[in-house]
Amino acid sequence: MNPKLPLVPPRIVVLGSLNMDLVLRVPHAPVAGETLQGHSIHRMPGGKGGNQAVSCARQGARVGLVGCVGADEYGEALRQGLLQDGIDIAAIRTDADAPTGTALVMVEDTGQNRIVVIAGANARLEIDEAALAAQLQGAAFLVTQFESPLPQVAHAMRIARRTGCKVMLNPSPVQSVDDAFWPMIDTLVLNEREAEMLAGQPADSPHAAATAGRALRVRGVERVVVTLGARGAVAIDAAGARHHPALRIQAVDTTAAGDTFLGALAVSLAGGDALDDAVRLGIRAAALCITQPGAQPSIPRRDAVLQSALPPDWISL
Ligand code: RIB
Repeated sequence: MNPKLPLVPPRIVVLGSLNMDLVLRVPHAPVAGETLQGHSIHRMPGGKGGNQAVSCARQGARVGLVGCVGADEYGEALRQGLLQDGIDIAAIRTDADAPTGTALVMVEDTGQNRIVVIAGANARLEIDEAALAAQLQGAAFLVTQFESPLPQVAHAMRIARRTGCKVMLNPSPVQSVDDAFWPMIDTLVLNEREAEMLAGQPADSPHAAATAGRALRVRGVERVVVTLGARGAVAIDAAGARHHPALRIQAVDTTAAGDTFLGALAVSLAGGDALDDAVRLGIRAAALCITQPGAQPSIPRRDAVLQSALPPDWISL
């Protein structure tokens, strides 16, 4: 059954990075010393914060984005794109002394990508405590990642906890954090490599991901979702662990699949769905995302997700 949104759409605040992605299509990633003829280069809006905000908005949430861009053409283009998705950009600051964040995204013929991010203005993100607290009042989630400075991310999470707003964290790119971090997280969404690094144990199969997820829950996280790419995702909560198989899809470009998954998951949970239903919606959204090139241009809208194929049933682990 398809999940339904409440009559009043949930509100989600995203704090995170905004990048202009320079997308290189290449036959394969070059090895050291190799010069390679690429297929094409395109400029597309991205950044994990921007992508997750767009995914939440296209799934029907009201979204506010807290971020920082430079006073340049890329920053303006990113702002305009977010406005087209109806995202509140009042809390995106412009820093006159740093360029807008950029990412070099190399996409191989297989659809797999390799990404290098230059933080630029994202590194200048500063939180206005009173403004963020006001924004978080009544919001279903603060969604954040690790492409913004860790002290600011932690500060925002503390403010969210104080205002009674749940935190959904995507710890990407992965960094080690202190013990006080974990109990602030309601929903931790991470891929298998991130799970391995943070849990300190393998997470490269559904069973291993379940074990790693349980170890992360012991630190104080309420629920954990480990994404496994073509093998789907594993959901771990107080009721146990379940493996959700993926849909079989020929990938064109996997960029932003995780961000798309997270947005659909967040909106579904914010609307009151059970974790397993939210994970299934995330899998359907990510499956559509990987059939299109680019980050934000490939993020599907709710109607398309609700019309898409259903993934196979989950398996208890
Ligand atoms: O998750 C994909 C994103 O990672 C890209 O859009 C790129 O900007 C990097 O932030």
